[in-house]
Amino acid sequence: MKDYLPRSDLLAGRVILVTGASSGLGRAASLAYARHGATVALLARNEARLEAVYDEIVAAGGPEPAMFPYDLAAADDRSMETLAGTLLHHLKRLDGMLHSAHHFTSLTPLDLQTLEQWQTLMRVNLIAPFALTRACLPLLRQAPDASVIFTGETHGHHPAAYWGGYAVAKSGLETLTRIWSDELGAEENLRFNTLIPGQVATTLRAKTHPGLAPESLPSADDLMPWYLYLMGADSRSVRGQIVECQTR
Ligand SMILES: NC(=O)c1ccc[n+]([C@@H]2O[C@H](COP(=O)([O-])OP(=O)(O)OC[C@H]3O[C@@H](n4cnc5c(N)ncnc54)[C@H](OP(=O)(O)O)[C@@H]3O)[C@@H](O)[C@H]2O)c1
Repeated sequence: MKDYLPRSDLLAGRVILVTGASSGLGRAASLAYARHGATVALLARNEARLEAVYDEIVAAGGPEPAMFPYDLAAADDRSMETLAGTLLHHLKRLDGMLHSAHHFTSLTPLDLQTLEQWQTLMRVNLIAPFALTRACLPLLRQAPDASVIFTGETHGHHPAAYWGGYAVAKSGLETLTRIWSDELGAEENLRFNTLIPGQVATTLRAKTHPGLAPESLPSADDLMPWYLYLMGADSRSVRGQIVECQTR
């Protein structure tokens, strides 16, 4: 897949919501989707960083994006319905979602992880991707070819010490992908997959592996062939899959 060469108009005319669009993989994917013709709805908390991505897309000649400053940790059903309504009002359609936002604190043994920490880990990393997708389902179902990508994590797939509630939430996304895909049955215009990036040089990796030199890791841009492939029509038959970008 790393050799995938998408057409320049792969996502022309599509509207794609990206959470975690202000940084790392979400930012790189927002720029890549816009470069391939999509109107991107950028979601994260920090408005200034969202504006910087907005400006980059416009400066590169991409379709004008939309910005949604939003805190997934504080979200409830009503605010997600409002967000979906605003998307419909301003952008008229929704053809894809990339869930890239995440909450991470530190690598810690389970006996030191608190209920409060777990609640935020579950809210941002598992409950919000579910609830936001559910709120947007009516819009996604109207699209001719809609793709929802959850972002997994290697340690959600291969659990290991100290990854605690973060890994548990990420493994839940894989189960969510499979259940939703099973329930979709014959709905061929909508698909769900989980993408596991592997180690990438972003702020997350600097927290989990501070000793690793960023230049020794792939950059977020190196992974964009996978992000583009799974979002565009070339992967129409790929559904309910857990896709690992880099195998260990
Ligand atoms: N980097 C890696 O090596 C790696 C490996 C495996 C999996 N992943 C996965 O890839 C995804 C992206 O990781 P990354 O390294 O690119 O992360 P990152 O650079 O730390 O970016 C995280 C994004 O999430 C947003 N965010 C955090 N809390 C939020 C909240 N409560 N509400 C809304 N947005 C929130 C942040 O924006 P604001 O601060 O503006 O809200 C930021 O845009 C994650 O799901 C991660 O699990 C990464």
